[in-house]
Amino acid sequence: MNGNIIIKNASELITCSGFAAKKGEEMSALHIIPDGAVVVKEGIIKAVGTTQEIEITLAKSGIDLSEYDTIDAGNKAVLPGFVDSHTHFIFGGYRAEEFSWRLRGDSYMDIMQRGGGILNTVRATRAASANELLQSGIKRLDSMLSFGVTTVEGKSGYGLDQDTEIKQLEVINHLDGIHYIDIVPTFLGAHAVPEDFKGREDEFIDYMIEEVMPRVTERNLAEYCDVFCEKNVFSVSQSRRLLSRARELGLKIKLHADEIVQLGGAELAAELNATSADHLLQASDAGIRQMAQADVVATLLPGTAFSLKEPYARGRFMIDSNCAVALATDFNPGSCFTESIPLIFALATLYMGISTEEAVSALTINAAAALDRADIIGSIDVAKQGDLVVLESPSYKFIPYHVGVNTVNKVVKKGNLVFDKEKGGMTYC
Ligand code: NIG
Ligand code: FE
Repeated sequence: MNGNIIIKNASELITCSGFAAKKGEEMSALHIIPDGAVVVKEGIIKAVGTTQEIEITLAKSGIDLSEYDTIDAGNKAVLPGFVDSHTHFIFGGYRAEEFSWRLRGDSYMDIMQRGGGILNTVRATRAASANELLQSGIKRLDSMLSFGVTTVEGKSGYGLDQDTEIKQLEVINHLDGIHYIDIVPTFLGAHAVPEDFKGREDEFIDYMIEEVMPRVTERNLAEYCDVFCEKNVFSVSQSRRLLSRARELGLKIKLHADEIVQLGGAELAAELNATSADHLLQASDAGIRQMAQADVVATLLPGTAFSLKEPYARGRFMIDSNCAVALATDFNPGSCFTESIPLIFALATLYMGISTEEAVSALTINAAAALDRADIIGSIDVAKQGDLVVLESPSYKFIPYHVGVNTVNKVVKKGNLVFDKEKGGMTYC
């Protein structure tokens, strides 16, 4: 695994070229090279062009080709690795029972008010050992990798107390060290109000700010702070207080905003210049415009709207309002138990008025921007990390068209072939 690889003859090399979030119309430009090739050396992209151009460059450079793996991507499309910028993939237990209650008509928030929902997973996550969380985390990451995900964000938030929040973040950081997928850790201590703080939300925010957050930041366990800003969870002013302190302590910020009720989360995200605001099913026109102006990435999670049978976020309106839109799975045991990238593509294109080209930008360069990493991942550009996906189809257009089916054939992480369907899955384990 030396991080050296050459991919050539790709029917389409979809570069998504760029080093920052793409806003509005820019999201449609994928910068495709027909019969494309890419050279990765020691994990970093060194050359991008047509196969003919790259072959000439390689011949002139006199490099030792025996030090490189070569992939013939004939009749296959190649894209940047997908970035899943919003997940809650570390948790104990499952909530299949609640899913059946929702099918019979109970609402997600009603179940949460009755002590189920997030609090149900909190009980199971507190009871789980770090090793149990680690083992289930590995399996979930393996599955994500098979869908072409090369970077994922993972949140705490199923502890709501110091020990369990720290336990979750330690597991996330440990997984980042041992798994191929890069993981961006987010502290979501204010994800729900635990039983013992019911009716004392302000005191819970104080506890998070004074006790838990400093333990997280002094050990550098998280890069982001997130909050569930929602009616009957945390208000706009409580969220502002938490996120402002988080920023003072060196964390970047994002929020669960306007998911069920229009509360002003989008406006708060713009006011605080958050990196992203996520969900936004109920975001107001003004909030969306303010986000576009403040360069806040709008991260949309259509799997959640689908699972909760809620109306989809207004993706088309957001792009037309010059927002940078990202898409993510929101993988979690309650509101959206799926890590399926093809499902997200299908829902975004079929139900949110988002074109296939925009969806590709939303899961690559804009998702990288939602994690403040558009300078190093999210596109096939020289000097970026060699994170690539080879499809079994000749065009990116097959991703939503082959609806719900995983079209990923190979995954390259930092120049190493780490997943190959033709070899039965993960290649080095
Ligand atoms: O993004 N909305 C809050 N948090 C998660 C759901 C977590 C859960 O139900 O366990 C979400 O939908
Ligand atoms: Fe979420």
